[in-house]
Amino acid sequence: MRSGFSSRMGFIIAAAGSAVGLGNVWKFPFEVANGGGGVFVFIYIIFCAILGLPLIMTEIAIGRRNHLSGIAAFTSLGHKKWSFIPILSMVIVVLIYSFYNVVSGWTILYSVEIAKGNFEAGKNFGSFASNFKISGWYSILSMLITVFIVIKGVSSGIERYTKLLMPALFFLIFALVIYSITLPGASEGLKFYLVPDLSKVTLKTIYSAMGQAFFSLSVGMGITVAYGSYLQSNANVAFMSIMVILADLSVALLSGLMVFSITYSQGLQDTAGGAGLIFTVLPGLFANFGDIGGRIIGLAFFLLLFFAALTSTVALLESLVASVVDKYKMSRKKATYVCSFIVLAIGFLSVGANGASDTLTHFVKYSYSDHYISFMDFIGNLASDTLVPISALLIVIYAIFAWKMPNLIKELSKGFPNFVSNSLGKFVIFALKYICPVLISCVIVITILQIFFGIDILK
Ligand code: PHE
Repeated sequence: MRSGFSSRMGFIIAAAGSAVGLGNVWKFPFEVANGGGGVFVFIYIIFCAILGLPLIMTEIAIGRRNHLSGIAAFTSLGHKKWSFIPILSMVIVVLIYSFYNVVSGWTILYSVEIAKGNFEAGKNFGSFASNFKISGWYSILSMLITVFIVIKGVSSGIERYTKLLMPALFFLIFALVIYSITLPGASEGLKFYLVPDLSKVTLKTIYSAMGQAFFSLSVGMGITVAYGSYLQSNANVAFMSIMVILADLSVALLSGLMVFSITYSQGLQDTAGGAGLIFTVLPGLFANFGDIGGRIIGLAFFLLLFFAALTSTVALLESLVASVVDKYKMSRKKATYVCSFIVLAIGFLSVGANGASDTLTHFVKYSYSDHYISFMDFIGNLASDTLVPISALLIVIYAIFAWKMPNLIKELSKGFPNFVSNSLGKFVIFALKYICPVLISCVIVITILQIFFGIDILK
């Protein structure tokens, strides 16, 4: 067997590291703000359980069956015809990673600026983001750090570094949450965040919650297939998956506590829905703690964000590298260089999409709308909102109709002998057969109609 994680705990931490990322700390709070507050959080948690869990388990099982990832995994199960699924996964990973790496670069940039005591950095976000050189160099730096870890391999690279980064991340987030929920005025924010108001449910709430659940759990793009391929055959997949979901959910929920407490206590609730929130609003707030205090708390926050991003970029790169190594028998080193170079090159289009290039900043206009969206936003709509659910649906269809349920169940029963008779097992099988195909299909249709054609079927 190929070398993999040295222990089960190593797998859980690495897979949780892949899931926990900018999606939790940066994206989750603004999705909650746009999705109506507590009600979004409620729907999100349900989606993690009924869609996220069965999907993660299926992906791990596909990878672990023959300890192969990507195209090789599907071919080794005897389904060459279905190789278009891992190819689609790779395309999605490249697209998502290309802009994710740019945002990850900004987290390093902001760590440096705050450490220098530049509390005006928030006001200057536009000029940083639109500066091709600055954003470009930081995206290269973020990529180099990721390459440094991935090139070392699974146990001495990924596992070793995520084991250091994840506890640091939890520590930082706990400290920041305790601090922020005690701010005066925080309770209003907590009410908005935690008390569901059903009247605020819209179609957008539903499809954004599903998109966010897939993005945050890193499912639907073959990443977990790659991680599963390194897992020992006697490990309990259900248990591991639940641990990963709980870790991911707790970081998202804690980030929400922090962000809503801070924004409401500062009277900035209207900005909570903006994607730039973390970069534009927070740096100025850190100034309130005095020069030294502000630098320490601000640096802690942006480092937290960078660590979260790093454990995810490592997963994104690893999934590409593992597929290329398995399929083309290329050396790990060479595969790492090739994949990172391609992602970085495409990423430069996103670097230019925040003001540096007019064509990329005003990239497309959907027919129903009169404003242009940037290349980076377009890639987000295309890859994470549309292609990820399609790919997730294909994975479920593949597992049910091509690989077949009995084989999947057999794989999931390794390390969990009474899987079929256990109520958790029954729930997962039911969700895979019925809930996932129906719900994901509906949401795909809703998303495409709404995003690309402006049609809201509720209205
Ligand atoms: N799940 C990561 C996050 O929440 C993002 C990610 C997506 C990572 C896809 C790997 C694969 O930030």
